[in-house]
Amino acid sequence: MAKITAGVGSSHVPAIGAALDNGKTQEPYWQRVFSGFEKSKEWMKEFKPDVAIIVFNDHATSFSVDMIPTFALGCAAEYPIADEGWGARPVPVVKGHAKLAAHIAQSVIEDEFDLTIVNKMEVDHGLTVPMSLMFGEKKPTEEWPCPVIPLAVNVVMFPPPTGNRCYNLGKAIRKAVESYPEDLNVVIFGTGGLSHQISGPRAGLINSKWDKAFLDNLSKNPKKLTAIKHLDYMREAGAEGIEMVMWLIMRGALDEKVDEVYRFYTVPASNTAVGHIILENQKKAKKTSAKKISAKSAKPAAKRAAAATKADVKKSKVRK
Ligand code: DHB
Ligand code: FE
Repeated sequence: MAKITAGVGSSHVPAIGAALDNGKTQEPYWQRVFSGFEKSKEWMKEFKPDVAIIVFNDHATSFSVDMIPTFALGCAAEYPIADEGWGARPVPVVKGHAKLAAHIAQSVIEDEFDLTIVNKMEVDHGLTVPMSLMFGEKKPTEEWPCPVIPLAVNVVMFPPPTGNRCYNLGKAIRKAVESYPEDLNVVIFGTGGLSHQISGPRAGLINSKWDKAFLDNLSKNPKKLTAIKHLDYMREAGAEGIEMVMWLIMRGALDEKVDEVYRFYTVPASNTAVGHIILENQKKAKKTSAKKISAKSAKPAAKRAAAATKADVKKSKVRK
């Protein structure tokens, strides 16, 4: 059986992609941002997902404002990298998992979440920036470590879906994945946010208090977040803060109680508050550990993995 065992939340600021692609990661401004993803890349290497479902938003790149689906599931074999006006990012083409994606489409549509099926789509910074942050830098000639199922959510044209609808879609996706017969370890990403507004009189708005409360509740009390109205997101987190509803799809696909294994927050990157969280289901997958990763701890991943394996062995002995 396939299983979603962990969730990742990550901002998708396009300037982060530009900093990576133009060799600026060591500049102090960017070093502050990238330092927060070092442990996450180690975590991802240990976690070794077979598939990543990445909930993201297209920024009028593949879908123009002429036609914009609320939820669109990528069922293609691959997704080329979009040129957003400054050339396509020099990263590998994103390979899909058409079989699992078609299975998810069938299952969630039978569950009355009428997704749009996408068989051709170029992907923009909304998808590729979180991938670079979590999987590390990859040249176009290399491959990403696992296939990806992109789920595009409309958060660019009013009205976007509610947080509650997103949370429930996450639950339906979980059910779909768990009815797939092959043993697959699946990670789900919620991307975008956190607070930001990129135009108008409030351009530059950032609300750290709101963002931190969002992360706290995402971890411990996600139901509370499902009641937040669109206008509250916009008032408190800026016009583009509405991207945060995508994190609720990720959260809905996890267990009610999760272990928060990592969190990072920094302000700003470009116009945006950068938020990042890693959550694991408490019924852990064998491959990974729910041990909290200290941002300060310099313990290498291999040691942590060895410690985790020992801990797992201990637990399984107790169970026996
Ligand atoms: C910025 C942030 C976004 O989420 C986006 O899609 C575009 C730009 C920014 O902070 O510049
Ligand atoms: Fe965005």
